[in-house]
Amino acid sequence: MRRRDFLRHAAAAGIGCLATSGVRSHGGSGDTPPGFPVIISTWPFGREANLEALSVLKSGGSALDAVERGVMTAEADESISTVGYGGFPNRDGTVQLDAAIFDGSTLDGGAVCALTGHRHPVQVARKVMENSPHLILVGEGASSFAIAEGFTHQETLSEAARAAYQKWRQKHPDGQGKAEGHDTLGQVVLAASGKIAAACTSSGMAWKLPGRVGDSPIVGHGLYADDAVGGCVATGVGEEISKVCGSFLVIELMRQGASPDQAIGETLDRIARRPGQIPSISAAFVAVARDGRHGAGAIGSDFHYAITRGTETQVVKVKPRNRKG
Ligand code: GLY
Repeated sequence: MRRRDFLRHAAAAGIGCLATSGVRSHGGSGDTPPGFPVIISTWPFGREANLEALSVLKSGGSALDAVERGVMTAEADESISTVGYGGFPNRDGTVQLDAAIFDGSTLDGGAVCALTGHRHPVQVARKVMENSPHLILVGEGASSFAIAEGFTHQETLSEAARAAYQKWRQKHPDGQGKAEGHDTLGQVVLAASGKIAAACTSSGMAWKLPGRVGDSPIVGHGLYADDAVGGCVATGVGEEISKVCGSFLVIELMRQGASPDQAIGETLDRIARRPGQIPSISAAFVAVARDGRHGAGAIGSDFHYAITRGTETQVVKVKPRNRKG
């Protein structure tokens, strides 16, 4: 279906967000890759990730190298309580990390879920992609695989995270408090060559049930990429993002002709308009199309993203869309 036909069809089908999203597509002018890098990441800490990814591309690295090294910046940053070292633990006091990496050229991916003892789950995820016949490894299997791949066991509970956990346990001596926080770092890299890669990394929700896995390490939910269309990553409440296969849905809508903003708007509407939705849902997506256009949208919380086009990087605030009743 051509773009114009898609839009006509979407309007007829009541995909109202296409007209009312209140956001515009940015950059890009056709189906040809722009010939310069476009890098988008969730949250203000995505700025560091973008700068790192850009420097990897500049020194000849691939889109996959860039996205891996890009998100490692947040995994190493102790001050970020939702990713890597510094991430808050589950309700037993154990940090369980989720990450995935995905190659839009081959549709190959790798992921680890509930990984313990390693501060850089995205590196282990890449090894799963490249050195195992599998897509996802979880828990102890993921940790053993990491050791077999030459990673050494590391402390993953930072002092600040330990203190926050102790405070939480004092408030919730039975360990039954609500899980909180879900600020995944997701990044999409469109290299000048037109190759696209995506990655997500997250400690999931603080105080989650041991073994809980969100959207971030699940291909099609937290991330998706296809060089023929674009790349998308998500952040927010994984349980809600997964119910609509969020990132895959964004890319498939783009494949049918929607702009990144239109596709994200429709996907957020699907999350928001379900009957019985939880009022505290927050979810956000960022996406880049193969022609370099980018888009972003959020429900439920103030959301910022970092965008690099060529050599220029900025952090942009996104006004949350209203939830549908
Ligand atoms: N989006 C991160 C999570 O729900 O775990």
